[in-house]
Amino acid sequence: MAKKSNQSKTLPIHILNGPNLNLLGTREPEVYGHTTLAQVEKMCVAQAASHGLSIVFRQSNHEGEIVDFVQEARTSASAMLINPAGYGHTSVAILDAIQMLKIPVIEVHLSNIHRREPFRHLSYVSKGATGIVMGLGAQGYLRAIDAVAEILKGSK
Ligand code: DQA
Repeated sequence: MAKKSNQSKTLPIHILNGPNLNLLGTREPEVYGHTTLAQVEKMCVAQAASHGLSIVFRQSNHEGEIVDFVQEARTSASAMLINPAGYGHTSVAILDAIQMLKIPVIEVHLSNIHRREPFRHLSYVSKGATGIVMGLGAQGYLRAIDAVAEILKGSK
C-alpha cells in the first residue's frame, strides 16, 4: 500500500491578470515590453518551481470574472499576485473581493504607474495589497513570487 505523506502541500499561488494583458508583447511594447503573457506564465511557472511552489495563471478582460477569480483564491490559493491593469484605477468591486482574503496579496504592474498619467496614480487595489511591485516589466512578476515565497516560508 502506498505510504501516506503527512507533509501538506502548499496551495498554488494564483496569478491574475486584468484587461488587455492578453495582448502583452504587441500592446504598446515601448511601455509594457515585448514579452508575451504566455512567456510571462512560463517564467512564473519556473520561478515558482524554484521555490517548490506551483501557480494558477489567469487573465480576464471582464471585471466580474476577476472578482470571481479573487473569491476563488479565498479557499484555493496560498497567495495571490494581481496585475489588475486598468481596473486597478477604477474597481472598488475588485478591492472589496481582495479585502476578504486572508492570504498575502502582491499587486504587480509592469510599468511604474507613478511616472505615467495622473489618472494612473491611484490604485484601489493597493489598499488591499500586502506589497506592490511596479516598473520592472515582466521581471516584476518573478520578484513578487520571490517575495511571496519568503512570506510563506516565514509563516510555516
Ligand atoms: C498596468 C498599468 C495600468 O495603468 C494599465 O491600465 C495596464 C497595465 C501595468 O502593468 O503597467 O493595463 O497595470
